[in-house]
Amino acid sequence: MSKDEALKKLHKKWLQECTCRLRYSSTQGVPGDGNANAQIVFIGEAPGAKEDKDGRTFVGSAGKFLSEMLESIKMKRDDVYITNIVKYRPPENRDPTSKEISDCAKWLEEEIKLIDPALIVFLGRHSMNHFFPEEKISEAHGVLITGNHFGRVRNFLPLYHPAAALYNGSLREVLKEDFKKIPRLLNGLE
Ligand code: URA
Repeated sequence: MSKDEALKKLHKKWLQECTCRLRYSSTQGVPGDGNANAQIVFIGEAPGAKEDKDGRTFVGSAGKFLSEMLESIKMKRDDVYITNIVKYRPPENRDPTSKEISDCAKWLEEEIKLIDPALIVFLGRHSMNHFFPEEKISEAHGVLITGNHFGRVRNFLPLYHPAAALYNGSLREVLKEDFKKIPRLLNGLE
């Protein structure tokens, strides 16, 4: 079975089995999507209104900004894989609770292990702090960290969340600069 087929099967299973309570208040589960053979996986927070409606990650304004930043480093959405720590939209876009994050954690773990990327990019503090609770996004952004997660020691790059950067001009410039480090970091890892 190809990685692509295995990933489809994995999402089908978790869409039926995930115990996250948010499944009852949201329209649908939003699995990760993109290239199953990607070298980079982006992990965001949770689907917003547009993602909840369309069933696809990062398709709203934050997603548009993410696509622009990918283009700035000569990459397309199809080159990477984009997922969230929580697969269902929290009501009124509130922050996901630690219970909701842990209820969706096995789903995320299985998708990361299957794709097995060289680099995992955290989009925002929620995804970073689930794995590195001591880190502060204001200090950790743009700096590679390693940690034993998803079955082995892996490389992680924390970035500000594109939605936060959309509403704050200075964060936007920081995020754009941090984003430009990705190709160089990836070259060093391969
Ligand atoms: N913000 C996220 O963290 N994830 C999405 O899928 C959309 C917006």
